[in-house]
Amino acid sequence: MEPGEVLDYIRDRIEGGRGRQYGEEPVSEYEHALQCATLAEQDGADEELVVAALLHDFGRLVVKDDELSDSVESDVDDGVKRKDHGEVGARALKPYFSDQVLFCVGQHAESKRYLCTTEPEYHDGLSAGSITTLEKQGGLMSAEELEAFESSPFVSDAVRVRRWDDGGKIPGMQTKSLDHFLEVTGRQLQTA
Ligand SMILES: [Fe+2]
Repeated sequence: MEPGEVLDYIRDRIEGGRGRQYGEEPVSEYEHALQCATLAEQDGADEELVVAALLHDFGRLVVKDDELSDSVESDVDDGVKRKDHGEVGARALKPYFSDQVLFCVGQHAESKRYLCTTEPEYHDGLSAGSITTLEKQGGLMSAEELEAFESSPFVSDAVRVRRWDDGGKIPGMQTKSLDHFLEVTGRQLQTA
């Protein structure tokens, strides 16, 4: 796809989240994406991480409602089964973004597991919905899983995206526009 087509595709999928509630949270999938990206900007994040925040739940936006699950494998365009919506999203975005963005998208559920394992107070601050999905996502990490996760150069980035993800659940929060974030996204496209 040409860069313009990629941005149209992303716009289309995010717009599709306007009428879909974000899990058990009091915001739509559309609001959640814009809120997370806005929180990233407010935190002074580089554009790559603003894009990762915007797109971290892209996997939820490329599957049908009844295929949405935090633990059940989903079928995507290419027919390959994948474990969670993070992986689904990273796969859909793979041709267009850096490894940094893709890691943050693909590992955002793992980042929650990581934070719950390493920071007990983080676990206590999660929403009820997020605590419910934690078990489906695998619960706390084993020592081996921790070691493997920490071997990535993007762990601290993924943890930041995860905190914006946790924050972007505020009914009525003022955000920047989707147009604004698509401009940012356009500057981070890795198309040949
Ligand atoms: Fe999210």
